[in-house]
Amino acid sequence: MPERVEIFEVGPRDGLQNEKRPIPTADKIALIDTLSRAGFRRIEVASFVSPKWVPQMADGAEVLAGITRAPGVRYAALTPNIKGYDRARAARADEIAIFGAASEGFSRANINATIAESLDRFAPVAEAARADGIPVRGYISCVTDCPYDGPTAPGKVAEVAERLLALGCYEISLGDTIGQGTPDTVTAMLRAVLDVAPPDRLAGHFHDTGGRALANIEASLDLGLRVFDAAVGGLGGCPYARGATGNVATEAVADRLAALGYETGLDRDVIAAAADMARAMRTSEGDQRDA
Ligand code: HMG
Ligand code: MG
Repeated sequence: MPERVEIFEVGPRDGLQNEKRPIPTADKIALIDTLSRAGFRRIEVASFVSPKWVPQMADGAEVLAGITRAPGVRYAALTPNIKGYDRARAARADEIAIFGAASEGFSRANINATIAESLDRFAPVAEAARADGIPVRGYISCVTDCPYDGPTAPGKVAEVAERLLALGCYEISLGDTIGQGTPDTVTAMLRAVLDVAPPDRLAGHFHDTGGRALANIEASLDLGLRVFDAAVGGLGGCPYARGATGNVATEAVADRLAALGYETGLDRDVIAAAADMARAMRTSEGDQRDA
C-alpha cells in the first residue's frame, strides 16, 4: 500500500487573503464547497483577524455559515487573539490556528507584537480552545528567511515550536512565508525543530516565490514530514511580507506526491475544477501591500 501524505488545503484563506478586490462571499463559499468534494480532511476557510488589517477576510462568519459542511472535513480558521477566537467559535470553526513567527521583524509587521508578546497573547486562546474541545494548530512564519530580518536561525524556529507545542498545539505548520528557502536551509531548520518535535507533529507550508517549494517538500519528506499545506491554483501571499507570492499549488503537490509513490486520497478532477475557480478570482499578480 502506498504511504499516505496529507495536503492541508489553505487556498480559501492563504490563497485569497491577499487579493485586493473584495471577492464576493458567495464565490468563496462555492470554492470551498467544491474543495469539500475533493477528499481533503482539513480546509482552512477563514481568518478572524482585524478587518482593518485584512479586509478580504472580514466575511469569515458568513463564509462558515454559508458552506455545506462535508462529513469528515474539518473547517479551520486563523485566530490571532481572544477576540478572533470568540468570533471563530461563534462561527463554528472546527479547528483554529494561532500564528506566530520565528523573526521579530515579521512578527511586528504581521501581528503588531514581539514574538514573546504574541506567545503571551496566544496562551488564553489555546486555553479557551482546550476548554471548548477545539483543536489548535500553530503556525510559525519565516522559518528560513524573513523579509525584514534576513536569514532565520534554525534554533529560533525550534524555540518557538517548543513554546507552541507547550501551549497545546496538536501540529506546527512551518512557513516559508516568502518562498526563499532551499532544500539545504529547510533541512537545517527541520533538523533543529526535530530535536523538539516528532515529524508527525509537523507540517510544511511552502510558498513558491523562488520556485523551490516542491524541492523543499521533497527535502521535508526525507526527514519524515507527511503533511503539507497548499492552495489550489497556487494563489496566495501574505499582505505583510512583500514578495510572498503564491502558495505552492495543491495540484502540483498532488502530482509530485503521486509521482513519488505517495497516496493523497484527492480527486484530481475536482482539484482541477477548484483550481480553475480559484484562478478566476485572482486579480493581482503577486500584488503586495507594504507592511
Ligand atoms: P492591533 O492593531 O495591535 O490590535 O492588531 P488591537 O488589539 O489594538 O485592535 C485594533 C482594532 O482591531 C480594534 O478595533 C480591535 O477591536 C480590532 P477598533 O477599536 O480600532 O475599532 N480587532 C479585531 N477585530 C476583529 N477580529 C479580531 C480583532 N482583533 C483586534 N480578531 C492584530 C493586532 C493581531 C489584531 C492585527 O495585527 C491583525 O489582525 N493581524 C493579522 C494579520 C494577518 O491576518 N496576516 C495574514 C495571516 S498570517 C500568514 O499569512 C502567514 C501564514 O500563511 C504562514 C506563512 O506563510 O508563513 C499563516
Ligand atoms: Mg502562508
